[in-house]
Amino acid sequence: MELFEAMETCRAMRYLKPDPIPQEMLERVIHAATRASNPGNSQRWGFVVLRDTDQKRRVQQAVAVAVREMTEMAAAAAEANPDAMDPSSRRILLGAGHLLENLHLAPVIVIVCAHHDYPPGSPPQIEYVYSTVYPASQNLILAARGLGLGTVFTTFNLSCEPQLREILGLPDDVKMGTVIPMGFPERDFGPVTRRPVDEVIHYDRWDPTR
Ligand SMILES: Cc1cc2nc3c(=O)[nH]c(=O)nc-3n(C[C@H](O)[C@H](O)[C@H](O)COP(=O)(O)O)c2cc1C
Repeated sequence: MELFEAMETCRAMRYLKPDPIPQEMLERVIHAATRASNPGNSQRWGFVVLRDTDQKRRVQQAVAVAVREMTEMAAAAAEANPDAMDPSSRRILLGAGHLLENLHLAPVIVIVCAHHDYPPGSPPQIEYVYSTVYPASQNLILAARGLGLGTVFTTFNLSCEPQLREILGLPDDVKMGTVIPMGFPERDFGPVTRRPVDEVIHYDRWDPTR
């Protein structure tokens, strides 16, 4: 698939089929993730690929308990006042709720992690770790799109970090960056809705009117 078409149609896919992902496809996606830019080419990433039903269920439970209350409150508010929410936000909310309850049914959940040790000897507050996980995560979702696999970028890890660390057996120096469910999509890929370039481009100096 043409690169620009993949970027243009790489929607967050929150409805995924449970059908398994062929191993070769999975490895191609992870390979693409490891082609990403990263600080000093340290490549301190690690990809925890959850395929085991029980492990996926444990992760889903931990995330659902942590996030459900928030999602339910937002859904109740939307229900009570349907006109206050635009259709796109409403769709996201419904999709996010569905994903939360069905996370474990995705054939694969990839948790993109990185060692928290770059640059060597740096103080812990220097968070280069995110410079490692985000480019890799973006490569991953685009490669998946190119192969017809749906994904959704999430930071579910932030809601229940201690529980997930325990489930995954993460050592102290490894941080989680993103939690990305992946599978063949139940819905169609389609054009993403983003602001036009002329609203976001600033030539030579920041333009405060934009
Ligand atoms: C850092 C990050 C965290 C995100 N977290 C979530 C999430 O927790 N749940 C979710 O359903 N989508 C999540 N998303 C996906 C965005 O909501 C989605 O990309 C955005 O609404 C635009 O939709 P589109 O990509 O389908 O055009 C996240 C995206 C990013 C970049």
